[in-house]
Amino acid sequence: MINKSVIAGALALCTGIFVAGLAMANEDVCIICHEKATPGHVADWKASKHFQEGIACSDCHGENHKGPNDSHLARLPDEHTCGECHESQFNQFLKGKHNLGWTSLNALPVTHLEPDELMEGGRGCGGCHNMGVKSEAQIRELRKKGYRYQNNSCDECHTRHTFSKKEALDPRACQQCHMGYDHPQWEMWSSSKHGSRWFARNDGRLPESASAPKCQDCHLANGNHENRTAWGFLGVRLPLPKDPQWAADRVTILKALGILNPETGKPTERLEMVRRVDLARLTQGSWEKERKKSIATCKKCHSGHYARTQLEMADSMMRKADRLLAEAINIVASLYRDGILKKPDNYPFAYPDFFYFMRTGGGNLKQASHLEQILFEMYMKHRMRTYQAFFHLNPDYAYWYGWAMMTKDLAEIRELAHMMRSIK
Ligand code: HEC
Ligand code: HEC
Ligand code: HEC
Ligand code: HEC
Ligand code: HEC
Ligand code: HEC
Ligand code: HEC
Ligand code: HEC
Repeated sequence: MINKSVIAGALALCTGIFVAGLAMANEDVCIICHEKATPGHVADWKASKHFQEGIACSDCHGENHKGPNDSHLARLPDEHTCGECHESQFNQFLKGKHNLGWTSLNALPVTHLEPDELMEGGRGCGGCHNMGVKSEAQIRELRKKGYRYQNNSCDECHTRHTFSKKEALDPRACQQCHMGYDHPQWEMWSSSKHGSRWFARNDGRLPESASAPKCQDCHLANGNHENRTAWGFLGVRLPLPKDPQWAADRVTILKALGILNPETGKPTERLEMVRRVDLARLTQGSWEKERKKSIATCKKCHSGHYARTQLEMADSMMRKADRLLAEAINIVASLYRDGILKKPDNYPFAYPDFFYFMRTGGGNLKQASHLEQILFEMYMKHRMRTYQAFFHLNPDYAYWYGWAMMTKDLAEIRELAHMMRSIK
């Protein structure tokens, strides 16, 4: 009896060692070769929690590729691979706006007019919009165009191959995308009092316990990967406001977004797209839910009254910005109506169309209208800055880069329109 169990025990031990040995051997193969082929990646991986926990190259990349000549056989893991071990973050991410980045990009007509390198190649719009689990059809489209990378968006905040939580908690993790032309949240926040306190604390000039809210505290609070704001990017919503002038201005803006038919005022098929990619909150309740979440965050430090007052000022500034923008849209629309501007072939209506971005002319550069580009900039750059700066507490962006530029745009549009009419 004793002999038998000793033998069985010894056998089990040997098998165990043998299996572990095989696994080690496979792993060693990747590492030994990649310490020469891509040493930086191996060093990053060795510095990661994954390394400590025994998560190997092959757990993410599979084992089909064996050497320099078959690297196309290495699997490039998508979000589902991460989700196998990180189910809760994966599920939260699926419910948030980041999950719609790639889909919303591809829903706009302008995307399909611009060079693929900027989209599927990930060096322009697609570099920031590589956010969200891609559908089978979207992946097929990428492959068909010859693009192999950009399969994962989890590595956008905790970059590979360190995959660090600490990095993702740093506001600089958001900087690459939330900056610049139409959404300079980085510039606004980093030079606001909230941001300057964060930098001071980070440099040890304020006590560790000093409060200094950063992007993640307000937008991914408690590590929740689901993100969404009340107004969103486009700064429109339904139902229309009660104030009759504001409601009328909103209708004008929705026409320029092509969401309402400029001739009949009825919703177009774009409204369905807006719903599908959650481009705007379409009920009072869904807007209020997000606004309440924001106020609850402010109340960790400020009084409720203080916080509400600040956010309501932003709403009221948006109303004033909408007045200027609607006036400008109406001037350009009247040039279309009177035949001074011609409807570009691809436009659905003889009316400005913001979803073509700077490609006014609907892709045909010869039909592009400079006047309409000024109008687009007024909407996309200056109107957005006017209210985004209220939310991110930046006086200079609110005035000089926002509101003041809108008044300049309006004057330019008025004068150019006048000139165009007098030449006609
Ligand atoms: C004998 C050397 C060797 C071994 C073994 C090896 N690799 Fe590679 N691998 C390479 C080289 C070299 C490249 C880069 C080829 C190039 O320059 O495009 C590469 C590329 C890759 C790529 C990038 C693929 C792409 O499309 O850009 C991944 C991922 C990868 N290896 C993972 C692994 C994993 C996981 C293992 C172990 C299962 C492994 N490698 C084993 C040499 C090796
Ligand atoms: C936790 C998952 C994970 C692990 C573990 C992992 N990788 Fe990766 N790796 C990724 C992701 C995600 C990408 C990006 C895929 C894409 O662009 O579609 C990637 C891309 C790559 C690439 C191609 C891109 C480039 O920068 O060249 C190489 C090479 C690579 N990994 C090598 C390795 C090696 C070697 C190891 C082990 C030391 C390893 N990976 C471990 C997730 C992982
Ligand atoms: C085979 C399982 C497995 C896979 C696949 C995997 N992880 Fe992990 N990951 C772990 C384990 C285990 C830990 C350590 C425990 C923890 O923090 O949850 C970890 C930790 C992490 C952390 C926290 C690191 C820190 O600094 O505390 C991040 C971020 C992370 N993984 C991201 C990813 C991403 C992104 C992918 C896909 C590219 C991925 N993981 C794929 C198992 C996995
Ligand atoms: C790789 C680029 C990228 C990075 C990095 C990134 N984001 Fe985003 N973010 C986007 C894109 C693209 C969208 C718009 C998604 C869509 O199309 O629905 C977005 C949307 C958002 C929204 C929703 C706005 C709305 O419409 O309501 C918030 C909030 C947000 N991001 C916060 C953050 C924070 C905080 C970080 C850093 C921890 C971060 N993002 C990092 C690209 C990025
Ligand atoms: C620098 C990174 C970056 C580039 C380049 C970029 N975007 Fe974005 N985009 C974002 C971020 C970040 C957001 C969310 C901003 C916000 O809510 O204020 C966004 C929002 C959007 C939205 C609205 C999504 C929503 O649901 O609210 C659309 C549509 C969009 N971008 C299309 C494009 C197109 C088309 C291009 C190229 C012509 C482009 N973007 C270039 C980062 C980028
Ligand atoms: C917009 C930036 C961003 C993106 C994209 C992102 N994360 Fe995170 N992730 C964070 C932040 C911030 C934290 C730290 C949260 C905290 O502890 O407050 C984090 C933490 C984590 C952790 C560590 C959790 C813990 O507490 O140990 C894991 C695991 C993780 N993320 C997985 C993922 C996966 C999987 C994806 C893709 C589905 C993903 N993340 C995409 C920002 C991001
Ligand atoms: C103190 C809290 C706070 C901080 C810190 C903060 N935000 Fe915001 N953010 C807000 C509020 C409030 C809104 C507007 C919510 C609404 O629509 O009612 C907002 C809106 C947004 C939006 C939607 C478009 C817009 O600007 O109105 C994005 C995207 C965004 N923030 C990203 C960021 C990024 C990236 C950072 C860091 C660089 C950051 N935020 C820092 C509170 C904050
Ligand atoms: C983690 C704590 C914290 C949170 C959360 C927070 N704040 Fe602050 N806030 C501060 C501190 C600290 C200051 C700097 C105090 C001062 O100006 O003397 C500040 C300053 C301000 C200022 C004055 C800025 C200036 O230029 O003088 C406003 C307005 C403000 N916060 C609004 C908000 C709003 C709105 C929210 C929620 C969306 C919010 N804060 C969330 C801590 C916080």
